[in-house]
Parts: sequence; structure tokens; C-alpha cells
Amino acid sequence: MAHPDWQEAWRAALYGPLGFFARGSRPADHFRTSPLVGPELAEAVVELLDRVDVALDRPNPLDFVDVGAGGGELAAQVFALGKRFRGRLRVRAVELVRPSLPAGVEWSRELPDQVTGLVIAHEWLDSLPCQVVQMHENRVREVHVSPDGTESLGSVVSSQWLDAWWPLSVEGQRAEIGATRDAAWADLVARVAAGAALAVDYGHFAAARPFAGTLTGYRAGRQVTPVPDGSCDITAHVAWDAVAAATGPCELLTQREALAALGIANAPPAAGLAAQDPLGWLAGAGRASRVAELRDPAGLGGFHWLLCPRSAPIRLVRA
Ligand SMILES: C[S@@+](CC[C@H](N)C(=O)[O-])C[C@H]1O[C@@H](n2cnc3c(N)ncnc32)[C@H](O)[C@@H]1O
Repeated sequence: MAHPDWQEAWRAALYGPLGFFARGSRPADHFRTSPLVGPELAEAVVELLDRVDVALDRPNPLDFVDVGAGGGELAAQVFALGKRFRGRLRVRAVELVRPSLPAGVEWSRELPDQVTGLVIAHEWLDSLPCQVVQMHENRVREVHVSPDGTESLGSVVSSQWLDAWWPLSVEGQRAEIGATRDAAWADLVARVAAGAALAVDYGHFAAARPFAGTLTGYRAGRQVTPVPDGSCDITAHVAWDAVAAATGPCELLTQREALAALGIANAPPAAGLAAQDPLGWLAGAGRASRVAELRDPAGLGGFHWLLCPRSAPIRLVRA
């Protein structure tokens, strides 16, 4: 029996009836993302939401929508920090299986039709399945995979997306065709009637595509060989330049740059504080270490933020 290509196998392995996410696996049990580090990412997001609110002249309701919300950590933190919006903030977590959420945070399985405010896709695009291809004997071929992860090469692929964004030329070179992510992002941005859409993820650019592609798996905190049997997360980096070109003009920064633009800076507690206020020093040191993790250029700080404003001039770096 012929095995499916990676895109089909990936979709079934994550989102099919017995899929990894569809049966309720919580990202927090398998990998670490910025919302799990502490409240500092949410503080930055609330600062951005405040800019959206001002640009839209304080709408009621002001939406915050977290797409692919995982365990709902970011939605819950933004809700808790959202008192400044004086009852106008409507927070919704979009996720396949309902996470545990505080009263007042809405949940839906489907994307909203219309958003007035801010929609965020935090590590959502990387989880959207793509076609995986490999160069073999001067032809680009589709990669197929069996449930135990054994790969085989299938038919010849011709793709405008590959030609434009990730042309292959060397035997053994691999790529993930990001057209599904570009389309998903354009669809999400189009749902923002007024405000902005923000994608945060790991990715690459045309100047430095990884030779062997980026398809990989995560299980119980470890990076593993991707096996499409529902036992692990399957992910691939985002081709940022392609996603950014899928909509109108957007702003693209590293997470480190974006956090600085939103006022989240590294500020270790004052040297003398440990003697005068040990608990205050401990809290300050904890915050400094969490911010350092979010800003680390070799880790989460090297992620990218893509902000696409709609109907109002909303920016991370102020002109
Ligand atoms: C990599 S996890 C990120 C979780 C969270 N945003 C974070 O950063 O901690 C991706 C999440 O997107 C969810 N997801 C993927 N496609 C979705 C869809 N079409 N609708 C709702 N949730 C989706 C998955 O179930 C999974 O929980």
C-alpha cells in the first residue's frame, strides 16, 4: 500500500481523530514557548493591545483573539492584565480542544469571522502541515512517509512557491512548501476588520534556508525524529519572507527587538537590594532571568514577530 505524502500524514498525526493535538495534548507538556516562561510576554502583548485600542479610538468590545491557544496561558494572562481596558476587553482562545480557562475568557474551535482589536498566532503557523520535498536525480520529488516514520520518494513536484521562495538544486536538498502557511496567514489577516494581526514563530529567510529542511518532532520536552503516529508534535520552521509577502505591508522584527520596542527590557535588580529587601531582590532576579530567556538571540529572542495592521497605522517600533 502506498504511504501518504508528509502533508497528509502530518495533518492526520496532529489533527485527525486520534491526532496529537486533536486528542488534547497540551504544548506545555512537550515543549517550551514564550507564554510558558512567565507573564512578561503577555505584558508586551497588552502594551501592543493598548496601542491598537488607542489607534481604533477605544472600541467596545476590544477583541483579543489567541489562535492556536494551546493550554490558554497567553489568553489567561492577557485577560488578567486587561483591567486597564475597563470592561471593554473581550478575550477569546481559539483551540481544537477547550483548554482550562478563567471565567470570562471565551473559547471557540473556529476562527472568528471578524476581529476589532488584536489577533495573535503564537507558534501556530509552524504547526500547519506542509508538503515536504527532496531533490533527487535533478528532479524535485514529494516525500512520502509510513506510520513508523520510514520515508520514500514519490512523484515529481512542480511548485511556483518553491521556484519563488526555496529553489532546490543540490542532490539530497529538502524543503517544506510553505504555501499552506501563507494562505492561512492571509486568511487570518483578512478577518481583522480593524486593528492588527501578529504572528510569532521560529523561521528562516531565503538567504539561509536549511539544506535538509526543518521538519522535526517534539515529545515530552525532547526534540525527536518526526513520526506521524500521533505520539509527538510535528513542526517545521516558517519561511518568513514568503509569509510576509502574503499580505499588505507588515512590520517584521526579532522577538528581542519587538520586546524592546514594547518596553520589556533587561533590568537586573539593584546590587544593594539583596540585603535590604531579600524578597524584592528575589522577585527582581526572577523577572530578569525570564526576560533574558525571552530576549536570548540564540533562543526565543531569535523568533520573529510579524505585525500586519489593518485600517489603522499600528507599529511596534514607533516612527
Ligand atoms: C505549537 S502549539 C502553540 C500553543 C501556544 N500558542 C503557545 O505558543 O504556547 C500550536 C497549537 O495550535 C493549535 N491549532 C492548530 N491548528 C488549529 C486550528 N485550525 N484551530 C485551532 N487551533 C489550532 C494546536 O492544537 C496547538 O495547540
